[in-house]
Amino acid sequence: MDYKVIENRYVGEDMYYIKIAGDFDAKMGQFFMLRAWDNYPLLSRPISIYNIEEDGISFLYKVVGEGTKILSKLDKDDDINLQGPYGNGYEKVKGRVALVGGGVGIAPLYMVAQNIENCDCYLGFREEEIMIEDFEKVCKNVYTTVGDKFITDIINPKDYDYILTCGPTPMMKKIVDMTKGTDTKIQVSLENRMACGLGACLVCTCKTKSGNKKTCKDGPVFWGEDVIL
Ligand code: FES
Repeated sequence: MDYKVIENRYVGEDMYYIKIAGDFDAKMGQFFMLRAWDNYPLLSRPISIYNIEEDGISFLYKVVGEGTKILSKLDKDDDINLQGPYGNGYEKVKGRVALVGGGVGIAPLYMVAQNIENCDCYLGFREEEIMIEDFEKVCKNVYTTVGDKFITDIINPKDYDYILTCGPTPMMKKIVDMTKGTDTKIQVSLENRMACGLGACLVCTCKTKSGNKKTCKDGPVFWGEDVIL
């Protein structure tokens, strides 16, 4: 379905924030397929939801190829096609909760932060901090790292009952490894490459202890103890 862009701005680290007008409903950690072109590139782009507000939905996306480059050129009132929401998002949890995001992996965690009270948030960046003012409004504590220092250097995962994470696979794998043999439970959101986004093409297959799964349909969020990173 076609919608109108409300705003689309560069926020740093090759990432843009886009807000689209409409009445949307989705669960935290789900994604939409975005498209603002006719034939080329062939595929729509799967983008995690950043936030849903009364007047629209927003996304954070990184420019990585032709599709996201076209998205980055959109202006207010331009048309954009959204399909979704798709996928299985994060399960709501209670207790001592940490959200851990790296790079564009911070995107789905803002909606999570608004739905889980008193969570701590750990955000890792390559060159500069972005969007942290939003997280500071809704999290108990926000910790950040930039450059050579990594989020996994400053978090003690055992301090938490649950960790909800999204970001580079090595970061998520390290967090899962750091909590092995403890009671801390982890939900990871995979950023596997996708094509159809609907469970039809198998491009996004990931491995779990119970066999191969489709990241787009069975995930993108999986329990850390099940998924093989
Ligand atoms: Fe096609 Fe997941 S992207 S099956």
